[in-house]
Amino acid sequence: MTYPYQIKTLQQYHEAFKQSEENPEMFWDNVAENFVWHKKWDKVLDWNFTEPKVVWFKGGKLNITENCIDRHLATRGDEPALIWEPNNPNEETRVVTYNRLHKRVCQVAQMLTNLGVKKGDRVCIYMGMVPELTYAVLGCARIGAIHSVIFGGFSAQSIADRLEDAKAEYIITCDGAYRGNKEIPLKSVIDDALLGNKVVKKVIVYTRTSTPISMIKDRDFWWEDEMEHAEKQVEKNGVVSFPAVSMDAEDPLFILYTSGSTGKPKGVVHTVAGYMVWSTYTFVNVFQYKTGQIHFCTADIGWITGHSYIVYGPLSAGGTSLMFEGIPTWPDAGRFWEIVDKHKVDILYTAPTAIRSLMGFGLDYVKGKDLSSLKVLGSVGEPINEEAWQWYYKNIGKERCPIVDTWWQTETGGIMISNLAGVTPHKPAHATLPLPGIHPILVDENGNEITGNSVSGNLCIKHPWPGIIRTTYGDHERCRTNYFATYPNLYFTGDGCMRDEDGNYRITGRVDDVLNVSGHRIGTAEVENAINMHSGVVESAVVGYTHDIKGQGIYAYVIYEGSHHEQNLTRPDILQTVSRIIGPIAKPDKIQFVTGLPKTRSGKIMRRILRKIAEGEMGNIGDTSTLLDPNVVEEIIKGVI
Ligand code: WT7
Repeated sequence: MTYPYQIKTLQQYHEAFKQSEENPEMFWDNVAENFVWHKKWDKVLDWNFTEPKVVWFKGGKLNITENCIDRHLATRGDEPALIWEPNNPNEETRVVTYNRLHKRVCQVAQMLTNLGVKKGDRVCIYMGMVPELTYAVLGCARIGAIHSVIFGGFSAQSIADRLEDAKAEYIITCDGAYRGNKEIPLKSVIDDALLGNKVVKKVIVYTRTSTPISMIKDRDFWWEDEMEHAEKQVEKNGVVSFPAVSMDAEDPLFILYTSGSTGKPKGVVHTVAGYMVWSTYTFVNVFQYKTGQIHFCTADIGWITGHSYIVYGPLSAGGTSLMFEGIPTWPDAGRFWEIVDKHKVDILYTAPTAIRSLMGFGLDYVKGKDLSSLKVLGSVGEPINEEAWQWYYKNIGKERCPIVDTWWQTETGGIMISNLAGVTPHKPAHATLPLPGIHPILVDENGNEITGNSVSGNLCIKHPWPGIIRTTYGDHERCRTNYFATYPNLYFTGDGCMRDEDGNYRITGRVDDVLNVSGHRIGTAEVENAINMHSGVVESAVVGYTHDIKGQGIYAYVIYEGSHHEQNLTRPDILQTVSRIIGPIAKPDKIQFVTGLPKTRSGKIMRRILRKIAEGEMGNIGDTSTLLDPNVVEEIIKGVI
């Protein structure tokens, strides 16, 4: 496949950027020409950031699965769309050609239709990283059902909240999932999430671990049985077909929940056409993808990175996407390098937390692995520190491979600020330059633009791009207040950012009450709410602190008044409570019991002070005179763990 919109030189980058600035409509009109439409759009863009309202490719009709599958069948039908590497290296790899993917996705579409799923219905997907997860996602998209994938690490309570918010009527899950030496009982978690739920009608269960599970009559259905039945319907005389539903450009494609500063996760909504164009455009340009290359994105499809750079971007580009079921450190810390060697991976896209963790295991695990197939390395999810960058560059890329440091968010749908591999220069620890169509601006607290170079401020974006968030599901006002109200006429990212002397951007981290733990976004309020559920906890305050591997660790200050239990016993109980309410990813790394929290006279917790203490910067606490009780601070410092 050729990509006429692929930028190949530095000069072309500057030209594309300029065009996207001068005439964004013409620019995106040209890019969108490279996709399959049932009906072309009447207007490229209609927008205002006050409501906000963003309409890309107005009046256009299409189905994203025809772009991800059908259009490649004639030329790439027998080429691999997916390569699946199991958790256990002794189990066999599965290679899924475009023809096979087409058949499976048609089957899923038929199966869902048979079970009553219609366009616009919400389908929650809670599965491990098996190819069937990709079939499920694309099967929904084929019939216009809105998928909402939930990461396998979330608890029953988190799933229950998300099901309720999305008013989901259908679930696709697995009996269990393998992750390293653990088995996650997915179906059993779903059963717990469904206690008291009256909205979910049907649950489809794919067999992965063969763990015993309960199957409820008329509610639970086996994937294998339903797919077998569907196969007979979609395949006639060896020809497979299932008509792709014609979707409006702005019909919702999926909901993906993510944390914000409040206690309640937000359902970020992306729509069909804009998301497709943006995920594909960014995939092809940032990674400089060439047809036939093997792209290995190590994320889970439960996060936006997996949506955009395992499923939609690579497949829409007719690429080969490697899906890995397991974790980087099992059976040992050489697992990624072994996969690169075994499958001759061209592009490796992973997170700084993984790099730092593998760095800690030493070079023995890299030794003897042939990494010469690698051409491009990528980083995503959090700022990459210089040390990790250098290690990655030297030991994995052997100083041959450019590293793309890709800054973006669930809400942006695809990569926003990044170098383009080998085309625009990389700079350690810098995301560098915006993609064409992205116009970052830095503002101060009062919303005044900070111009010039060698400056820092809050990162905003000033013009819509095709992949921008459209709404938060069921609550448009929330979308407005969260992203478009802080600074008028700007999309506010929640990130702090520096612009260096050459105009390169360096993202420094969140400026709101959101933590980034191992590249996963967690709201401090959510963790506090969960801790406060524990009997005996009176109040808590959660902040982030610098963690060698996770990037940020979770530090919890807890006022505890239960007398029946020793505090040593209470710590694990609190961890258990957080696991139950949110999931293991939100467990605090440190819990300090305190008798009071630093509060202003109006009762607001001063997190700035708690952050300083958690970072060990006791000498640099700053002004405490506005506190209700400044002594609290002394006491907390004495009790630091
Ligand atoms: C937040 C978004 C979208 C990727 C997965 C995370 C941080 C992301 C970078 C980077 C510095 C980064 C930001 C952002 N972040 N990539 N290359 N350099 N920070 O998605 O859960 O929506 O989190 O991750 O703070 O706001 P997410």
